[in-house]
Amino acid sequence: FGLRGNTTPSFDFLELKAGFDQTHHVADGYRADILIRWGDKVVSGAPQFDVQHQSAAAQAKQFGYNNDFIGYIPLDQPRRDLNGGWSGGADESVHGLLVVNHEYTDALLMFPTSSPRTTALVDIEMAAHGGSVIEIRKSGDKWNVMDPSFYARRITATTPMRFSGPAAGAAKLKTSADPTGTMVLGTINNCAGGVTPWGTWLTCEENFNNYFIDPSSSLTGHPNEAGFRRYGVPGAVNDWGNFYPRFDIAKEANEANRFGWIVEIDPFDPSSTPVKRTALGRFKHEGAESIVSRDGRLVIYSGDDQRFDYVYKFVTQDKVDTSNRAKNKDLLDKGVLYVARFNADGSGTWLPLVYGQGPLTAAKGFANQAEVLINTRLAADLLGATKMDRPEDVEANPATGKVYVVLTNNTNRTAAQIDPANPRAKNAYGHIIEMIPDSGDHAATTFKWNILVKCGNHLDPSVGASFNPKTTADGWFGMPDNVAIDAKGRLWVATDGQGPDSTGRADGLWAIETDGPARGTAKHFFHVPINAELCGPRFTPNLETLFLAVQHPGEGSAFNAPSTRWPDFQQGVPPRPSVVVITRTNRGKIAC
Ligand code: FEO
Ligand code: CA
Ligand code: CA
Ligand code: CA
Repeated sequence: FGLRGNTTPSFDFLELKAGFDQTHHVADGYRADILIRWGDKVVSGAPQFDVQHQSAAAQAKQFGYNNDFIGYIPLDQPRRDLNGGWSGGADESVHGLLVVNHEYTDALLMFPTSSPRTTALVDIEMAAHGGSVIEIRKSGDKWNVMDPSFYARRITATTPMRFSGPAAGAAKLKTSADPTGTMVLGTINNCAGGVTPWGTWLTCEENFNNYFIDPSSSLTGHPNEAGFRRYGVPGAVNDWGNFYPRFDIAKEANEANRFGWIVEIDPFDPSSTPVKRTALGRFKHEGAESIVSRDGRLVIYSGDDQRFDYVYKFVTQDKVDTSNRAKNKDLLDKGVLYVARFNADGSGTWLPLVYGQGPLTAAKGFANQAEVLINTRLAADLLGATKMDRPEDVEANPATGKVYVVLTNNTNRTAAQIDPANPRAKNAYGHIIEMIPDSGDHAATTFKWNILVKCGNHLDPSVGASFNPKTTADGWFGMPDNVAIDAKGRLWVATDGQGPDSTGRADGLWAIETDGPARGTAKHFFHVPINAELCGPRFTPNLETLFLAVQHPGEGSAFNAPSTRWPDFQQGVPPRPSVVVITRTNRGKIAC
């Protein structure tokens, strides 16, 4: 790739005006259709959504709450080629599986006001977590959810899963329900994720600490004291521990060690057991986007979304088998997990988290590789990794090999704590770093880096933002979170945390140039209803469809008087997190 010869952004759409109200908006010339909402049917036998008569049994068959990650897997040929593109037949962009995470629930908006906390309510919440697999097909201009579908599946906070990799069976994973440390019920707080070249879904457990309580309010002397302090366990946001003792750390010492993992799910086999891949480490995983290294191994990038936490990558020991899908079944169980150090001179180093190497020894509290992985953060602390401003998505551009690290914000960083990779104190709006692997190889242990953009209102010099001056008053954004990269190498950035009180504009989608004189020029394409965040952005391989996840519309308000009733706008019906499909009204590729 090379420099484009002009400074005009190549995004071929009329810029949307930034702002906020009760509904979504997309740039002129595009349509935004609702594909599926919280409570819609996923699995056969699901009853009609009835917000006044919810049940866990119904919810376990219906689309869950707070849709975050979206993966699209073409059905006719579920395989990504070694360059990171999809290879498939003519139908690859009109018929596929959508895999969607359900991150968390909001009792205030889900249940009629004054519903007492009961096991029945907690069970509904558990059934609304996890993920959904739906089969979708485009006919004419419209995408539809196929019903019935062989593939349709709900994953919840009680779905049986197994552990694999170096920490499976470890003492710190054993509980009274699972004395073997190899099986666990469910996945929680699934934020972003990824899709592997062999068409499996990687779903990431993020703020799992919030699901654990400790009535004694003292970690002192707890067998997992050091780890729990570092991971913020108990977070005590959710009260599930009052109903199910496994979420009470005084009653079940190790259950919290069984969350914070990346889970691999085979969407082609609805009876398959999801697998928590311990080799990829345990932290507040945001995402798990992958790319194949020069010699054919898989490299998975993953951010740990907490103020002052780290950026990681995992490199498999063995190569991806592109001809035999089954050969990749346990590929993610062997390999090396690395954490990033960003040097001041613009170079960087990937530091291996390997038991016995450097400080990762018994003298420092690690008995074996299982303990290094279970307490990944403690191990990374010892290696001197760079403390970042909340790492969210990390995604490689297959065309250029450049990797984009999205840092959403960190208002706790003081002036004394700034460093070249996190250069702003009280970083309210975040920034995006571009990493360039040395030798163009994602398996390399060194890299170069620079900052693509410091976010926020670049028209206000006090903000310290660095958008290209061609960016308009609508074109800047703050709090970047998830990204998609299109075939022209342009970044589509979804934001989380904007709103009337922060930036005066709703969260949404901004496209930003990464190359040539227009680099750093951003343009506004879509925004969400009030109090929602935007997640997911995912293109079909032909770039004619863009799937978006509108998460937590109306958050902060309550069932009886929500700040929006999007998308139904029906009295008595609260807002419903939904997946939105964007297409061009006159057909064709988006923004080309
Ligand atoms: Fe769930 Fe890092 O956002
Ligand atoms: Ca989210
Ligand atoms: Ca996120
Ligand atoms: Ca976020």
